[in-house]
Amino acid sequence: MNKNSKKLITADDPGWYKDAVIYQLHIRSFFDSNNNGIGDINGVTAKLGYLESLGVTAVWLLPFYPSPLKDDGYDIADYYGIHPDYGTLNDFKRFLREAHLRGMKVITELVLNHTSDRHEWFQKSRNAPKGSPWRDYYVWSDTPDKYNGVRIIFQDFETSNWSWDPVAKAYFWHRFYSHQPDLNFDNPQVRKEMFKVIDYWMEMGVDGMRLDAVPYLLERDGTNCENLPETYDFLRQLRSHLDKKFKNRMLLAEANQWPEDAVAYFGKGDICHMAFNFPLMPRMFMALQMEDWFPIVDIYEQIPPIPEECQWAIFLRNHDELTLEMVTDEERDYMYKVYAHDHTARINLGIRRRLAPLLNNSRRRIEILSLLLFSLPGTPVIYYGDEIGMGDNYYLGDRNGVRTPMQWTGDRNAGFSTANPQKIFLPVIIDPDYHYHSINTENQEKSLSSLLWWIRRIIAMRKQHKAFSRGGIKFLHCENQAVLAFVRRFRG
Ligand code: GLC
Repeated sequence: MNKNSKKLITADDPGWYKDAVIYQLHIRSFFDSNNNGIGDINGVTAKLGYLESLGVTAVWLLPFYPSPLKDDGYDIADYYGIHPDYGTLNDFKRFLREAHLRGMKVITELVLNHTSDRHEWFQKSRNAPKGSPWRDYYVWSDTPDKYNGVRIIFQDFETSNWSWDPVAKAYFWHRFYSHQPDLNFDNPQVRKEMFKVIDYWMEMGVDGMRLDAVPYLLERDGTNCENLPETYDFLRQLRSHLDKKFKNRMLLAEANQWPEDAVAYFGKGDICHMAFNFPLMPRMFMALQMEDWFPIVDIYEQIPPIPEECQWAIFLRNHDELTLEMVTDEERDYMYKVYAHDHTARINLGIRRRLAPLLNNSRRRIEILSLLLFSLPGTPVIYYGDEIGMGDNYYLGDRNGVRTPMQWTGDRNAGFSTANPQKIFLPVIIDPDYHYHSINTENQEKSLSSLLWWIRRIIAMRKQHKAFSRGGIKFLHCENQAVLAFVRRFRG
């Protein structure tokens, strides 16, 4: 067992998430233990040793619930089960146990805002009479004109936030795909259902939950239906429910918003423990390309301080597009021009690429951004495969190009599975620059100068100094605009 992870993450430390190194992975993409072409829970359990040796202290699993998988599992059909492709509840319990034995925490997904249209609640709702308790589980309207002007998030796929349901003979509200109806958080019954879901997974031993798409829980006329006071109130209730029943658990907000609104998800330390630093992310890429510290220092000046017990989660890439929703039009044009010249790489308001291809496979550029990831204030989140510089394939549609099988070896299917290659849920990367024959963990384990070993060393270094995870930051003024310098200091 890794000495550092033991030292930093003790079962009884309520601030464990501050010292964590989080690894984000999709069960279906990680490792296929039963060779049916789809990654599974037992596959992730089998690879815990790899994660431990990388220095990871917490694993964040993308949604693994029963789902038609039209939005890769963010379209949940049952909050209490495991998708049969991925294994069983017992497999999950074993995974939890094994992770905990290694001193690792487990973070799962709570998709509160919406369900799949296959969820039984939606089926009951659309069949129930108007004004009845079941109908009230979702947000219905007789006209598609309500909440006019609210932005459309998946703008490459949807033209309205309302869709007509021929069964209910009414329109239902959805901020994402039209197969993902939004739950009605004005209904106390819906709130109760969510508390039940949380209790179920927390009782099982889950350590933290990422609250998906959390700014959109409630709707009010005349507003943009994002970050409403009512939404913060509900989340405060949720937090106090959690605190009453459980110890040392963590809530992580996915709120892709401007700094003031994003910070509000911490409340006074009484809402979420963590939130993703969406404002910072694109500015790191801008600063790198411009060879200028300004975008980074400038955004830090705009991000208000956060409560003592809270922590940002910082990331370079994730399973979605590199979002450019919360930047100015000018900044977005610049980012598109320099990072997504090929229009096929663009989706909605963002870029569907992995870290290495975004940076033209330049080791120095990957190192510089990774150094920022591991040294700026917050907890770093590594997206699976980026530690070996995996490539992507944006011809696969939606955001699938950044969700391809993890590359373990140069063997068939990159060592991900021994199934017939035609059976693999998504094809492995064979782009000559990123071919799994050369880009895989086995090769990189053998070479101490590989990216994998470099990341491993940076993580180990970070763990030696609490200043990185808990300290403050002071930027130093450099005459040379191309040099970003800062001091991290913790208790002197
Ligand atoms: C979040 C997820 C994204 C998903 C969306 C709708 O933004 O990160 O993958 O498509 O929610 O559930």
